[in-house]
Amino acid sequence: MGEQANHEKREGEHVREGGRGGQPLLLGVIGDPIQHSKSPAMHTAALEACGLTGAYLPFHVKGKRLEEAIRGIRALGFRGINVTVPHKVEVMNYLDRIDEGARLIGAVNTIVNDDGVLTGYNTDGIGYIRSLKEEAAPALEGKRVLVLGSGGAARGIVYALLQERPGLVTIANRTAGKARELAAEWAHLGSLSGRGMEELDAVLPEVDLIINTTSVGMHPHVGDCPLDSRQIPEGIVVSDLIYNPLKTELLQQAEVRGCTVHSGLGMFVYQGAYAFEHWTGRTAPVEAMRAAVLESMHP
Ligand code: ATR
Repeated sequence: MGEQANHEKREGEHVREGGRGGQPLLLGVIGDPIQHSKSPAMHTAALEACGLTGAYLPFHVKGKRLEEAIRGIRALGFRGINVTVPHKVEVMNYLDRIDEGARLIGAVNTIVNDDGVLTGYNTDGIGYIRSLKEEAAPALEGKRVLVLGSGGAARGIVYALLQERPGLVTIANRTAGKARELAAEWAHLGSLSGRGMEELDAVLPEVDLIINTTSVGMHPHVGDCPLDSRQIPEGIVVSDLIYNPLKTELLQQAEVRGCTVHSGLGMFVYQGAYAFEHWTGRTAPVEAMRAAVLESMHP
């Protein structure tokens, strides 16, 4: 992918103990709201673990100030910015370049400033897949995967998943038409099928992996489950993008059925790891980042 190629190009470069010309490395995250973001704690820990001088701060940016905020990245000499809800789509209008994956997904969560040239990437999907492979399902090639949901999060996940050459990806959504549209849009990228949630009886017995990208089961609705858990095949891998709670109702039910479970915490950590690697050219200190997120959730 474009992200990786770009990263490799920069690997050989000399990285100073901070930003360019010995300046501190300036990083941050913009969103609305932003006060509950765990990214500042996570990236501050990453900078410290790598001995880099710099700062990563949260910025509360309203929609009407987004363009100004992006211009400010160049003016103030920020090296990088993460973009979160609700700006991931609109921000694409204000960047100089957009990585191919981010363009297809239709959203940017990471901006890199190379001497005033702003490039947008999407590290959510590849971050999720890196976490899934390291923590729960090392081999995805040929696997039959069921993705629940077809919104923004699902687009990132499905795009990154297709790079792993799964056997079949079924996208199931409450609004079936949206799942079918996404399956049709990316039919050239792999074997995809779109369904309604009520059409899963024939699909579920055949799946090796279920990924929930919907918000069903997220705090405070912790008792909700996106599908009838009795239909989950025993012993498969079940993954949920939600990380509050760390173990959703879906994952608890899957565990009872002897499944390997995977929570959204890893996705959050690894999307941050890819962003950090884009900005610094260094391997991200993933364990320090994970520990900082857990600490900020349960101080
Ligand atoms: P995100 O960026 O988190 O994916 P989104 O683009 O708003 O957010 O997409 C939310 C997804 O969760 C959609 O697939 C949505 O289904 P619909 O397209 O039918 O709206 C799904 N979703 C949200 N709440 C849901 C619920 N209570 N039951 C089933 N699906 C739900």
